[in-house]
Amino acid sequence: DKREFRHFMLKEIHEQPETAALWVSRHLPEGLPASMPVALPFDEAFYAGIERIEILACGTSRHAALVGAHLLEQFAGLPTAVHYASEFRYAPPPLAPNTLTIGVTQSGETADTLAALAMEAQRRCAHPDPAYASRQLGVTNRPESSLSRQVPHILDIGAGVEVGVAATKTFTGQLLAFYGLAMAFATRSGSRSAAEIQTLADELRMLPQQLQELVSLHDQRSEALAHRFAETQDVIFLGRGINYPIALEGALKLKEISYIHAEGYPAGEMKHGPIALLDAHVPVVSIAVPGTVFEKVLSNAQEAKARDARLIGVAPEGPDTALFDDLLPVPEVSEWLSPLLTVVPMQLLSYHIAAHRGLDVDQPRNLAKSVTVE
Ligand code: F6R
Repeated sequence: DKREFRHFMLKEIHEQPETAALWVSRHLPEGLPASMPVALPFDEAFYAGIERIEILACGTSRHAALVGAHLLEQFAGLPTAVHYASEFRYAPPPLAPNTLTIGVTQSGETADTLAALAMEAQRRCAHPDPAYASRQLGVTNRPESSLSRQVPHILDIGAGVEVGVAATKTFTGQLLAFYGLAMAFATRSGSRSAAEIQTLADELRMLPQQLQELVSLHDQRSEALAHRFAETQDVIFLGRGINYPIALEGALKLKEISYIHAEGYPAGEMKHGPIALLDAHVPVVSIAVPGTVFEKVLSNAQEAKARDARLIGVAPEGPDTALFDDLLPVPEVSEWLSPLLTVVPMQLLSYHIAAHRGLDVDQPRNLAKSVTVE
């Protein structure tokens, strides 16, 4: 039932404040002790001795994993690698000890992700040294799926049924799962003070309200902007650091539902080739949020502007962001939290561009909700 919404995708984008609130109530209930700042369904043995993490995923789930890896490395201090499941299957890296392998799949049925996890479990089981034993976790929206029969631990993102082929609320659900894991590992690794972890938890508690405001604001802003993309054939998305995966996700969303060619790049990489594509016909969407790379992203955007590209900023309002031709404003939050907000204008912009073109947003051509073949 789409209720008042024209498409399931739009409904599911609008459900994100609600799914975030549910996540907060489950995992960040008031009154948690400082020694346990986040409530996850694992015992101490689950965390014991883990020194590195490998994540296997496809598509949008892989983009969530890239944000997750940033959090696990930069916030929790754990070396983390993300692999395309389809690549990992035939070129797995040499085994490392004391490793947790995380499979991220909202459907729990993606063939490549399941096969990569199975292959990894098998080669670890064959290893004589117990430090190399298989330790696996699945992050999914379908706790009754094939994934849950295959891995010993499941983190259910609890986002509710997603009908639209383009993943939206399950993406933010996967991000939230990684915030939970990063807080849990940071508590144990000692990479962050209790106060820093608490600050992140407090910010996450405010997220549902912020998402609510953002979704309402951007539904209108993106719809107005979408008209400008009627003739557009190529779009470049730029981000850095924790928001680089959001640039990838913005480009993937646009490609899959509007059939416009789009590329996501780490903004600093633009001058190493893609800048040659730029002219007045190629809009550039830059994610520029205050933090470690704010100035850098702004100067990368300036370089694009010098090539006559139309600049769209996903950035806070203010004098620093006056260079953008169009602004999709996001509130100022800590850089850690920012991907959970910057992704919303990306989703809505893609949605409105596709809807404006009259396309079948919920059932894009050539795509299926779960890819159960290799
Ligand atoms: C994009 C999209 C796909 C999936 C990918 C993995 O909107 O939906 O890229 O993310 O096929 O699917 P799951 O998460 O079910 O493994």
